[in-house]
Amino acid sequence: DPGHRRFSRRALLGTGGLAALAAGGAAGAAALGGGGEAAAAPAVPFHGPQQAGILTPRQNHVRLAAFDLGRARTDRGRAAALLLRWTTAAEHLTRGAPVPAGLEPPGSRAADTGALADTRPARLTLTFGLGATFFDRTGLTAARPEALAPLPAFPDDRLDPARGDGDLLVQIGADDAFVTAQVLRTLQRLAHGEATLRWTMTGFTAADGRRNLMGQVDGTNNPDPARALVSAPDAPPWLAGGSYVVVRRIRMLLDHWDTLPPDHREQALGRRACDGSPLTGGGERTPVDLAATRPDGVPVIAANAHVRMAAPASNNGATMVRRSWSYHDGHRADGAPDAGLLFTAWQPDPRTGFVPVQQRLSRGDALARYLVHEASAVFAVPGGIRPGTYVAQSLLE
Ligand code: HEM
Repeated sequence: DPGHRRFSRRALLGTGGLAALAAGGAAGAAALGGGGEAAAAPAVPFHGPQQAGILTPRQNHVRLAAFDLGRARTDRGRAAALLLRWTTAAEHLTRGAPVPAGLEPPGSRAADTGALADTRPARLTLTFGLGATFFDRTGLTAARPEALAPLPAFPDDRLDPARGDGDLLVQIGADDAFVTAQVLRTLQRLAHGEATLRWTMTGFTAADGRRNLMGQVDGTNNPDPARALVSAPDAPPWLAGGSYVVVRRIRMLLDHWDTLPPDHREQALGRRACDGSPLTGGGERTPVDLAATRPDGVPVIAANAHVRMAAPASNNGATMVRRSWSYHDGHRADGAPDAGLLFTAWQPDPRTGFVPVQQRLSRGDALARYLVHEASAVFAVPGGIRPGTYVAQSLLE
């Protein structure tokens, strides 16, 4: 195949004005403001066996952004060039270096304003995913994995299609909201003429602690990610070491939730509000005893309690790694807070992870009465990026 490796990083770098990058990389690192700052800045390595931002402890801020390629049919080479630009930008930004000059696509008139010049990377991570439509747009429909099929509709979904799906996902996490905002701006600039923003969502976590906006300690019973995120046996080679992420924007009906008696709130979850410990006793990390009953024979953890309905034991062993963020985007016309959870779950295959669990939760989860699922998206997340390669290179080259 004479076209083989047409879109290798090397081939792309040699064309379209990207050659400047080879020199730009080294110069960029040296240009960091202030002697020694780079070493002291908390940087998360961009390269590794997994993409950064999945196993990385959650940062304080996130921007989730979905982009659509600009053309109904996009040449594979253009998509590859975009992902190379983004990869290059990510390599620099995550270590606190400026994006090399000249990285913008041809025809772009915008340039780096230096807004990040004196900012540390603040544990910045960029995590990239491909939506089902990416494959159709780039003529790669045959390579689209079955596991990337659209999620089924769930009862009570109130999804806004404009805030769902998308060709490409970028999750930008950092401990500094200025960094996440400016990095998104940079990616947008580098996508000029090639891809446009479809939706963005802004999330945060508590600087200390792991409570969500319902007041619950969240994230306790996550599986060990190293074991939970091994590739499925039928994963395509280009997705080796990768996973799938499901993003759901779930609004909390907080005005209602806040009026509930405290024990009702705890029953709906199955854990105590004060410290996240199971209603069956012990500390936060004590396993939930789903079999425990009160003297009158009634289960301690209610049949419809969230932790019972979501547990692997109730769903044929289905697991996912939850790494969710709170959002609070002001108030709706009815005065209710536009607030909730940017629920983000990673798994080897959504059909054996998120889907069966959400199917069960959407049929009677006690917590679900106080929740509205407003947007939904699923993306294939390629494995870790090796130095000298770009995101999804083995799919595109
Ligand atoms: C557990 C909150 C939506 C799956 C929990 C826990 C909390 C919580 C507080 C207990 C602590 C923990 O183990 O992390 C919420 C809130 C949601 C939400 C506020 C929506 C706004 C979902 C959805 C799913 C899900 C949509 C999946 C479809 C799980 C799982 C567990 C869990 C698998 C662990 C169950 C176990 O094995 O103990 N959730 N959750 N949650 N949640 Fe959710």
